[in-house]
Amino acid sequence: MLYSYTAAEAAAAAAAAQGMVKDMFSSLLLLWPLSYGLALTHAAPQEQSWNNHNLHSVPRDLDARVRRLDLSNNFIRQLRTLVLPSLEQLDLSANQLDFISEGAFEELARLERLNLSRNAMNTNVGSNSKALRSISGLRSLDLSANGLTDEAVELYLRNKSSLDWLKMTGNALTRLSRSMFRESKGLRIITIDDNLISFIEEGTFEPLSQLKKLNLARNTLVRVCNFKLHQVKYLNLSRNSLESFVTREDEQMYELEILDLSFNNLLYFPVVPKMNRLRYLHLQNNMVGTLDSEASMVSEANYLYSHIMNENTVRKNILHSNWRLMPLVFLDLSYNHFRQFPAETLSLLSSLQVLNFSHNCLQNITWNIRPFHSHPENPRQLYFPSLKHLDLQSNGLTHLSPPFLKALTQIETLNLKDNTVQLCTSMDHLRGFPSVGPQDSNTSCFAFGKLETLKHLNLEGNNIKTLHPNTFQKSSLVSLNLARNTHMVMHEGALEAVRTTLQSLIVSGNNMSSSDLTLPCMPALTQLKMSGNHLDVLPSSLGCSPLTQLDIRNNALHTLNHSLIKALSVHLKHMYISRNHFNCCDSKWLILLNDSQLADIGDAECFTSTRNLTLTEYLKTPMSHCTKVQDVHIGQTFIIALFVFVIIAAFTVFCKKLCCTDTTFVVR
Ligand SMILES: *[C@@H]1O[C@H](CO)[C@@H](O)[C@H](O)[C@H]1NC(C)=O
Ligand SMILES: *[C@@H]1O[C@H](CO)[C@@H](O)[C@H](O)[C@H]1NC(C)=O
Ligand SMILES: *[C@@H]1O[C@H](CO)[C@@H](O)[C@H](O)[C@H]1NC(C)=O
Ligand SMILES: *[C@@H]1O[C@H](CO)[C@@H](O)[C@H](O)[C@H]1NC(C)=O
Ligand SMILES: *[C@@H]1O[C@H](CO)[C@@H](O)[C@H](O)[C@H]1NC(C)=O
Ligand SMILES: *[C@@H]1O[C@H](CO)[C@@H](O)[C@H](O)[C@H]1NC(C)=O
Ligand SMILES: *[C@@H]1O[C@H](CO)[C@@H](O)[C@H](O)[C@H]1NC(C)=O
Ligand SMILES: *[C@@H]1O[C@H](CO)[C@@H](O)[C@H](O)[C@H]1NC(C)=O
Ligand SMILES: *[C@@H]1O[C@H](CO)[C@@H](O)[C@H](O)[C@H]1NC(C)=O
Ligand SMILES: *[C@@H]1O[C@H](CO)[C@@H](O)[C@H](O)[C@H]1NC(C)=O
Repeated sequence: MLYSYTAAEAAAAAAAAQGMVKDMFSSLLLLWPLSYGLALTHAAPQEQSWNNHNLHSVPRDLDARVRRLDLSNNFIRQLRTLVLPSLEQLDLSANQLDFISEGAFEELARLERLNLSRNAMNTNVGSNSKALRSISGLRSLDLSANGLTDEAVELYLRNKSSLDWLKMTGNALTRLSRSMFRESKGLRIITIDDNLISFIEEGTFEPLSQLKKLNLARNTLVRVCNFKLHQVKYLNLSRNSLESFVTREDEQMYELEILDLSFNNLLYFPVVPKMNRLRYLHLQNNMVGTLDSEASMVSEANYLYSHIMNENTVRKNILHSNWRLMPLVFLDLSYNHFRQFPAETLSLLSSLQVLNFSHNCLQNITWNIRPFHSHPENPRQLYFPSLKHLDLQSNGLTHLSPPFLKALTQIETLNLKDNTVQLCTSMDHLRGFPSVGPQDSNTSCFAFGKLETLKHLNLEGNNIKTLHPNTFQKSSLVSLNLARNTHMVMHEGALEAVRTTLQSLIVSGNNMSSSDLTLPCMPALTQLKMSGNHLDVLPSSLGCSPLTQLDIRNNALHTLNHSLIKALSVHLKHMYISRNHFNCCDSKWLILLNDSQLADIGDAECFTSTRNLTLTEYLKTPMSHCTKVQDVHIGQTFIIALFVFVIIAAFTVFCKKLCCTDTTFVVR
């Protein structure tokens, strides 16, 4: 009822393994009593929460019907006999528990889930373990952060044949031995991350036939020489000190679906089981690729294998023959040391959909494929037949060879952020898409010609100087990021080819003035970011686009075209306008947009002849800032003019009279 394992199992079978793990976690978390207020009332006796109540001991007179009891975050040090025959879940985490009397749990016949994390269970291990031994029906146990040693854990895991879920994060385990799980062979999920484990005896996990998920992240393991856990679906060895991961070849099926070897010291690709179901492989933050060429990397890995297996000679390319059978869909190789793209090895992964190759040191993707013996002059064309998402950001790339681009037959997303890739001019295009032949391998610009499946392209921060007309010819891009190319000039017609397909365009931080930015009429465009330029007028072609998001922050705009904004206001949901130099008194456009459309109106300012003020402030009393100022001004001018006129008139009249008299007088 409370926690159905069969439901979790069904979910696990249906979902991908990663999903399964997440689901299981969240259901486990959800089911711990986390209710704060409602608990103390006797109206809901099956659940009581005393979380954070300054308790120094377990409260007396607990309702005997209680099924879930939360005593976490108190100061309880000792536990005496609890008589709660209905209790199924007990949370004692974050107390100071160091003594549990031997019979404490004897009257808890139905207890299934016990949380003892963040206590001091490393003391009085003798009596504490006797107490724990009596709850043989326990299914889930959390012993994290208790300072536990190997011996203590072994004692705590006695008589736990129904234990299914064990968590021991942040203890002091150093060695796992065969005897540790001897009496808890039903375990399905074991989490022992953040310990000091440097050695795992053979036979420790092999007998746990139900084991699906094993997390050993954040330990100090140096090598896995003979991986043998056929039953495990999820293995996390992230943040150890692993230098190698090797499986001895056999004909048995391994259930492994997710393998995390990230943040280790691997120099080579792991030698995975030959027959496997591996779909997610995390190798980020290692040192793979340090060796110069792909060929030497592969042969070193094979040499290592035969060395570990005590074979005298390298019989065959075991790395490649096993990788070829891997149904991998996701591979993360970011933050490694590749200077060459390992095209041959990666092209063996025929199911691979996502490849993260960001933050390596590629510089050039050349095509150093071993040629066919029959045609040594022609490099072979290989393919990445399922690859949809390729992340190459931050590689210092200047050059992608045409055969490489040609290999990307299914590519949808290409991230080239923070490289120095230059785009071909239309002249380059006239030469056509280069073939595989070596005569074309000196094309140093990036041609899109054949990337017809490409939908999302990120060219942020590539120091692109010029966007030539028809740069994106033949592609049907949906989103394009050209941000932070600080000297870029965009020619008229540069986006012509993707005019009807483009839905999102980013040209932020390009230091462009309005004359550098010519946009065609783009009838599908819904998102446009142009912040951080020197634009003083918006391209009038924007009127074509059903923009829902428009970012024009940090430009040099004084006003916005009234009829353009009127056209845009129909679709706009979020418009960002702050950090411009708007004239308050030329802001007719402002009333076309309401507050919910202007996402950052609180930060936006405008100026009048006398001062700067926020748009919100201005909009409260628009009359008093502009109209009046101008009225007063005109009025004053008028009054002064009138006054001057009257004075002059009076003076003239007076003068005439005086002068006439004078003249008469002088003449006489
Ligand atoms: C045990 O309690 C801690 C909080 O102290 C929590 O983080 C952890 O998830 C709980 N364990 C389980 C199995 O729910
Ligand atoms: C193991 O658990 C069972 C059932 O609760 C109990 O009868 C038995 O005494 C326990 N064994 C030990 C050694 O405590
Ligand atoms: C493996 O463990 C690390 C460290 O705890 C964690 O960050 C990572 O997400 C885990 N990997 C997977 C695939 O779950
Ligand atoms: C690739 O890895 C980098 C660095 O960890 C990360 O920022 C990026 O989102 C990843 N890309 C993909 C497609 O997963
Ligand atoms: C480089 O390309 C040009 C024309 O695009 C060609 O004439 C020249 O021979 C090529 N150079 C090499 C070394 O392939
Ligand atoms: C990358 O390739 C281009 C063109 O083939 C060449 O000019 C350049 O020197 C290469 N750079 C490096 C670092 O290999
Ligand atoms: C922006 O462009 C101006 C000239 O238009 C130039 O003086 C300035 O250095 C550029 N700024 C950056 C960051 O490139
Ligand atoms: C304002 O926008 C309209 C339609 O987008 C355009 O026809 C007109 O020329 C623009 N006016 C100015 C002054 O830019
Ligand atoms: C703001 O304008 C949009 C589009 O014209 C409209 O959908 C929305 O209801 C308006 N919101 C308010 C609060 O007036
Ligand atoms: C208004 O702000 C601008 C910069 O945004 C500044 O140059 C100007 O001096 C300010 N004017 C007044 C009156 O404060």
